[in-house]
Amino acid sequence: MAPLSGRLSGISIPILTARLALRLPKPSDVPFLMRRLNDSAVFRPLVSRHTHFKKSEEVEWVRDSRKSARKGEKLNLAITLRESGTLIGGIGLEIRDWDNGRGWIGYWLAKPYWHRGYASEAASAVSQIAFRRLKLHRIDAAVFEFNPRSARILRRLGFRQEGIRREVLFRDGRWHREFAFGLLARDFRPLRARTSPSRGDVGRDE
Ligand SMILES: CC(C)(COP(=O)(O)OP(=O)(O)OC[C@H]1O[C@@H](n2cnc3c(N)ncnc32)[C@H](O)[C@@H]1OP(=O)(O)O)[C@@H](O)C(=O)NCCC(=O)NCCS
Repeated sequence: MAPLSGRLSGISIPILTARLALRLPKPSDVPFLMRRLNDSAVFRPLVSRHTHFKKSEEVEWVRDSRKSARKGEKLNLAITLRESGTLIGGIGLEIRDWDNGRGWIGYWLAKPYWHRGYASEAASAVSQIAFRRLKLHRIDAAVFEFNPRSARILRRLGFRQEGIRREVLFRDGRWHREFAFGLLARDFRPLRARTSPSRGDVGRDE
């Protein structure tokens, strides 16, 4: 366990949940990031850019994530399975406005790990730290209109849809909207562990 410093002091990495360990990204994660982030099922709902991620960008992202976490500036974490250490995705919390306790959350999972509650579990753990440890007042999230899976995660945790941004993404010959979600500390509903057993590594990378 490594404690972070600066404004993130009090947070120990990895963050452990029932089935997951959220750790700092490391250089050996780059091939996984390249392959899984550039999978169109992940890429298209995640980012508005049209070009895929280059290796140099991922290398820089890992370096920046490690540096900024250590300096206490932002938290970009790799989502891994607690039992096996298998890397399955990523989650980030960036506090853009410390004066008003306002953070921004984003997350993704490699496709083979969808639909098992891992992203909800990770988002719940990070939100809990945001509110309980960092004493944030609210967390923001943005979801493209064609991404109901992500909206369901947010609603499960107590986020509300607060607005609609029109024509933020031009793709497949037309404009798409983005839904602005927000969660106030007092509305947060941490995820309660399900009784169904973890499916562990079933469906891991082929
Ligand atoms: C968004 C994304 C992370 C959602 O993945 P997901 O697998 O639907 O989310 P979770 O891991 O939280 O799984 C939740 C689902 O698993 C089901 N589930 C199965 N076992 C479960 C368990 N033990 N605990 C909780 N949920 C479980 C839930 O019922 C839920 O299904 P539902 O949405 O149909 O109700 C994924 O689609 C993704 O990476 N998309 C691309 C990137 C992206 O869109 N990021 C968000 C940008 S805003």
